[in-house]
Amino acid sequence: MAAGRHDPERAIDLDLIRCTENAALAAWKWFGKGDKNQADLAATDALRGMFQLVDCKGLVRIGEGRKDNAPGVFMDDKLGSWREESIPAAIAVDPIDGTTLTARGLAGAISVLAVTTCENPDDDPSTLFPAITCHYMEKIAVGPKMTGGGKNVLLDAPVETNLNVIAAGLNKRVQDLVAVVLDRPRHEKTILALRQAGCGIRLISDGDVAAAIAPSLPNSGVDLYIGIGGSPEAVLSAAAIKCLGGEQLCRIWPKDDDERQRLVQEDGCTPGDFEKIWNVEEMAQGEHIVFSATGISDSPMLQGIRYEGGHCITESILMRARNRTMRRIVAHHDIQRKTMHLASTGQEVEI
Ligand code: FBP
Repeated sequence: MAAGRHDPERAIDLDLIRCTENAALAAWKWFGKGDKNQADLAATDALRGMFQLVDCKGLVRIGEGRKDNAPGVFMDDKLGSWREESIPAAIAVDPIDGTTLTARGLAGAISVLAVTTCENPDDDPSTLFPAITCHYMEKIAVGPKMTGGGKNVLLDAPVETNLNVIAAGLNKRVQDLVAVVLDRPRHEKTILALRQAGCGIRLISDGDVAAAIAPSLPNSGVDLYIGIGGSPEAVLSAAAIKCLGGEQLCRIWPKDDDERQRLVQEDGCTPGDFEKIWNVEEMAQGEHIVFSATGISDSPMLQGIRYEGGHCITESILMRARNRTMRRIVAHHDIQRKTMHLASTGQEVEI
């Protein structure tokens, strides 16, 4: 380690894994039970409960989009122990990305968060995750082999052009590429263009945090993520993609005139804000970023929760931007002994 170098996030990074683990374990109790709000409520309670034991002054910058009046963790919520000496941290979090997947017992659900801190404890990390108030963003995400050296995809390039650039960058044929796209009517043209070019598409019904990170992960079988998805999800995936050296380009996508008007009148959006293309450096700023995710059900990034004998097995991924270290952590939880701390009651409950 260089003299004087200080990575404050290392003091809390393993505890962050416990936060997503507990959220995933709590969500699992509702897996396939048909009630996404109960799943979200349980995951949120367990995540908040674990955060009470994390030694930081955490301010939520990116919470869940307020859709369907669902429970969740929202912007400006405080998480962490908030002792005077605790490190200030900005938090982006989604206790469940894929609430519907969880309720319906489908693949692709994860619990996910990213935390950023500053080297100097007197600095304010809160602006390092930009608050993007538009519900959706247009997104394109590619892996580390696709950055620099003139191999860059462009958000506004025709689909076919981007596919040719990716094929050249990855030394593959276009017909051997695999893109992930959210299965939505708004993606009809993109899906058609991908198929006309010969690219394979993995359509997903939800869960685009893991999908956008997939091209940056070795052996994920995914070369490209493209389409319109949630803005909070875009910041979360940007944090991970930054840790992995890939790229994601995004632009806000108001879904109708009402939202466009609200963005102008209430949030002061200028014409330039509607045109701005964000990259991962802008969406996840600074070096002291930690990303943690735990699988609820199987995704290209993580295995879902399994029960074997007396144990519950979770798989999590922990990444740090400063050193670009990625850890996979498989935890075996003894179901006779493992408990979760719930924020709502302050009680320890069994898994
Ligand atoms: P939730 O888990 O909050 O329901 O989000 C799931 C999700 O699929 C995200 O991964 C994605 O970014 C967003 O919803 C897409 O929004 P929509 O379902 O409105 O198209």
